Amino acid sequence: MNEPVNVLNVKDLQIRTAFGLPVKGVSFTVGAGECLGVVGESGSGKSLSLRAISGVLPRGVQVDSGTTEVRGRSAMIFQEPMTTLNPTMRVGDFIAEGPRAQGVGKAEARRRAVELLTEVGVPDPAVRARAWPHELSGGLRQRVMIAAALAVEPSVLLCDEPTTALDTTVQAQLLALIDRLRRERGMAIVFVSHNLAVVSRIAQRVLVMYAGRGVEEGPTDEILRRPKHPYTQALIGAIPKPGVAAGHLPTIAGAPPEPSAGLVGCAFAPRCPSAQEVCSDQIPATVQVTSGHTAGCHFASPIPEKVL
Ligand SMILES: Nc1ncnc2c1ncn2[C@@H]1O[C@H](COP(=O)(O)OP(=O)(O)OP(=O)(O)O)[C@@H](O)[C@H]1O
Ligand SMILES: [Mg+2]
Repeated sequence: MNEPVNVLNVKDLQIRTAFGLPVKGVSFTVGAGECLGVVGESGSGKSLSLRAISGVLPRGVQVDSGTTEVRGRSAMIFQEPMTTLNPTMRVGDFIAEGPRAQGVGKAEARRRAVELLTEVGVPDPAVRARAWPHELSGGLRQRVMIAAALAVEPSVLLCDEPTTALDTTVQAQLLALIDRLRRERGMAIVFVSHNLAVVSRIAQRVLVMYAGRGVEEGPTDEILRRPKHPYTQALIGAIPKPGVAAGHLPTIAGAPPEPSAGLVGCAFAPRCPSAQEVCSDQIPATVQVTSGHTAGCHFASPIPEKVL
């Protein structure tokens, strides 16, 4: 099988703020036409990592070391489109800004905006192009954001919790849209969410982040069926299942360390049900569990090939 061309390479990315290092050395690659899901609880460094790739880190936050490399262009969509959409601009003009910035004429840019609204499944696109952002539902606004992102012909689409604020039906429709765009355009997608169930519906591979580090990565099926890191196991245990009331799901007790904490061992050790002495003394090495599946746990071991 031909390996897909990597269009996104992130290597040992470390991000610094005035309070410490919220991202402590994250590495991943994404191929053309592939979706990598990035999952981890609040504060694990998902958004800052995406912003570093886009080159739009907040003031006072810098890449400390490591590299991010995009072949082509990246575009980013966020959880709340209202913070990005311009309330004083009709949505068609907002989308047309991308092509306009690339030197496309006004009429042609407007025509492209309508074409993009059609591509992302907005009904009556020519009419909707003249709507103001506040006149659209949350789901339609998110489609407009996706259209605006596509207007720059990105090779990489960075999605930061784009469906989290939406109800489950609209969420499913948007996941289907993003998946279709991946296939049709051969775009690389990074889909960030704190929700492993959502990520596993759209991503071919999953990266699990904990306290600013990648702790496990592998094909989605493999991560769900054979998670090796106790944190991934806990995330899977917290996925709602039919017939189990939400209040009866296991939760992960405790909280992750602050970005300023100087860590000697595994960051998950204080919350880990299987932690031993070595876990608070030494940072675990990354173990190759199977080809393409890695885990950073002292107790993860490779699976012999004959068992697979
Ligand atoms: N502008 C900033 N200045 C200082 N610290 C920041 C800034 N933005 C984020 N941080 C800190 O960096 C850490 C990682 O933040 P980030 O937003 O990347 O987390 P996240 O994984 O996206 O979480 P969430 O699921 O809540 O969106 C957090 O501890 C956060 O408080
Ligand atoms: Mg975030």
